[in-house]
Amino acid sequence: MERIDLFSTPVGIFNVENYEEINQCIFPLANKKEYMFGGTADIWQVPNNIGLRKLQLKFLESASELANSILKENYKWNNFQTIRGWVNEHVPNAVGRVHDHGYASFAGTYYVEVEENSGPLTLVDPRSGISSWLQKNNTQHQFNYNFKPTVGKLILIPGWVLHNIGPNESSITRISLSTNINLR
Ligand SMILES: [Fe+2]
Repeated sequence: MERIDLFSTPVGIFNVENYEEINQCIFPLANKKEYMFGGTADIWQVPNNIGLRKLQLKFLESASELANSILKENYKWNNFQTIRGWVNEHVPNAVGRVHDHGYASFAGTYYVEVEENSGPLTLVDPRSGISSWLQKNNTQHQFNYNFKPTVGKLILIPGWVLHNIGPNESSITRISLSTNINLR
C-alpha cells in the first residue's frame, strides 16, 4: 500500500514583542468606523503611528517565516504585502459568522484586547465529509480547531480556510486587528 496524507492546513502562531506599546497605538483607532470591519479605510495607511508600523512589519515577517517553512523558499518580509488592515470589535455576546478571505495568501489576526472567555477563533475543517468517519468514536462532528486568543498573539491562516468567532462570553469588548497578506 502507498498512503499519501493530503490537504494539510498550515497555520502559524507568533508572539509579538512589545505588544503593550503597539496596543497603546491601536486603541485610539479601535472605535473609528472607517478602520473597522465593514469600513473602507486601510488601517496601514494611518500616518505617523509607530505601533502600526511595527505590527505591519511583524505581519510581513511572520508571513515570510510561515511561507518559507511550508515551501522551503527564502522569502523576505518585503516579498509580501498587506492588502488592507482593519479592526474587529466584538461586544459581549457577539459572534463572528463563518467566512474566508478568498484570494489572500494569508489572513492574519493580531489580538489587542481579549479575556479568558472572549470567544475562540474556530477554524473549520476543510474536509466537509469527515463527520461520517468520526461519528462512532468522536463527540465532535468535525475536527474543527479552536484557537484561544491571548493579548499579543498573532495568527496566520491560508486565506481559503473558513473560520468563525465564538460567542464573546466575557464582559469586555474583544478587539483584534486583521489583515490580508499576499505575495508581491
Ligand atoms: Fe476572518
